[in-house]
Amino acid sequence: MMLNFSRTRSQLRTNKSLSFGGMDYADPKRKGSVGKILVAAALIAFCLLMAKQTPTFNSTSHFSCHEPGVTHVLVTGGAGYIGSHAVLRLLKDSYRVTIVDNLSRGNLAAVRILQGLFPEPGRLQFIYADLGDATALNKIFSENAFDAVMHFAAVAYVGESTLEPLRYYHNITSNTLVVLQAMAAHGVKTLIYSSTCATYGEPEKMPITEETPQLPINPYGKAKKMAEDIILDFSKTTDMAVMILRYFNVIGSDPEGRLGEAPRPELREHGRISGACFDAARGIISGLKVRGGDYNTTDGTCIRDYIDVTDLVDAHVKALEKTEPRKVGIYNVGTGKGRSVKEFVDACKAATGVDIEVEYLSRRPGDYAEVYSDPTKIRLELNWTARFTDLTESLEMAWRWQKAHRDGYGPPTATPRVI
Ligand SMILES: NC(=O)c1ccc[n+]([C@@H]2O[C@H](COP(=O)([O-])OP(=O)(O)OC[C@H]3O[C@@H](n4cnc5c(N)ncnc54)[C@H](O)[C@@H]3O)[C@@H](O)[C@H]2O)c1
Repeated sequence: MMLNFSRTRSQLRTNKSLSFGGMDYADPKRKGSVGKILVAAALIAFCLLMAKQTPTFNSTSHFSCHEPGVTHVLVTGGAGYIGSHAVLRLLKDSYRVTIVDNLSRGNLAAVRILQGLFPEPGRLQFIYADLGDATALNKIFSENAFDAVMHFAAVAYVGESTLEPLRYYHNITSNTLVVLQAMAAHGVKTLIYSSTCATYGEPEKMPITEETPQLPINPYGKAKKMAEDIILDFSKTTDMAVMILRYFNVIGSDPEGRLGEAPRPELREHGRISGACFDAARGIISGLKVRGGDYNTTDGTCIRDYIDVTDLVDAHVKALEKTEPRKVGIYNVGTGKGRSVKEFVDACKAATGVDIEVEYLSRRPGDYAEVYSDPTKIRLELNWTARFTDLTESLEMAWRWQKAHRDGYGPPTATPRVI
C-alpha cells in the first residue's frame, strides 16, 4: 500500500485505483458507460488537481534517475521527530530526499512544512508506505534511483516494548531485513542505521564506548541489536558502506522553530521525559511523575545522556559523507555528559518558567540506572562533537515550538491510501 505525492501526469492517468482519505470515486453499482466515463473523468481531474497542488509535482521524475553531483537519500520515518529534522538538514545541504513513512507515528504536516521550504522540483517527495510491505518497498526501489538510505523508521518506546514485544521485533528487526533485501535487490549500497544506547543494556562501567558489550535488557534494545547484527552479517558478504549510529536520549528541536517533537496523544504515557515536562508546564497533565527515585545514583534518579536533535542530524550527515564501500562504522552519538532526571526537570523548569510539580513513583520496567556515552570515537573519526550541550538552551528551543503548537502539528490529516 503506497502513495507517491509527486506522481507524474502519466502515472496519475494510469492509476485507476487511487483514493484519498477514504473517498471513493468509482460506484460499482453503476453500469452505464456514460456514468463510467464521467466517474473516470472526475477521477483523472481530481488526481491532476491534487498533483498540481503538490509542491513537488514534476512532469518528469527527478527521483527516478541518478543525477551526477546529486545524492538521493531515502529517509525512512522522515515524517517522525528525528527523521523530519534529518530531512530538513539534508535538503539544506542540497541532497535530494524521498521520505517513506506509514504515518503510524509521524506527521504529514511536518512533511508539508518541508515541502513548503523546498518546493523546487526534484528536492523532496513523500511516499506513504509501510516498510513491512516488501512488494510496496520493491516497487519504490525500482521506481526511484536512491544513492543511500537513512533508516529511521521504528517504534521507539522502551516501556511500550515491554508490553508489546512482538510489535517491536516485527517493526524494528523484521522491517530492517525487508529494507536490506530491497537495497540488495536494487543495488543501493549505502546505509545509515538509527540504533540506540538501549542495545548496551545496563553496563557496569561508564562511560559507554562502542566496545562496551551489548546486553540489551528490553525488547526495544534487543530488536535494535538484532537489526544491527543482521546489517553486520549482511555487510560482510557485500561491498556495502554502513554506518550504525547509537543515539543516546534525543531532545530539542529545530532552532528556527519550523519542526518539533509531536508524538500522538495516545503515546504520551510511554513518552519521553521532555514531552512529559512540557505537558506538565502547559497544564495538560497536573505534574510530572518520575519513575524511580531510588536508583543508585547521586540524587536517586536515572542518569541519561541528552543529545540535541540538531547535533544528532549533523552526525548523520558527517557519517554519510564518510561512508566507504566495504566499511562499517559504529558510533555512539551522545554528549559524554550524564545528567540526572532531577537535573533535567530543573532545566525544564528554567526553560519554561513553570514550577512543575514532581512526584516520585516506583521504577518503570525495563529502565536502567545510568547511561552516558564516550563520544571519543565519533569525534576522532567523523570530526563530530555535540555543540548544544546546555540542557536549558535545548529545552528552551523545544519549548518555543511547543508553546506555538499547543496541538502539535494539529489533528492527523486523513491518511492517504492506495487500494
Ligand atoms: N527519540 C529518541 O530519543 C531515540 C533514541 C535512540 C534511537 N532512536 C531511534 O531513532 C529513530 C527515530 O525515532 P523518533 O524519535 O524520530 O521516532 P518517531 O516515532 O517520531 O518517528 C518514527 C517514524 O517512523 C514511522 N514508522 C514507524 N514504523 C513504520 C513502518 N513500518 N513503515 C513506515 N514508517 C514507519 C513513523 O510513522 C514515524 O514517522 C528510531 O529508529 C528510534 O529507534 C530514537
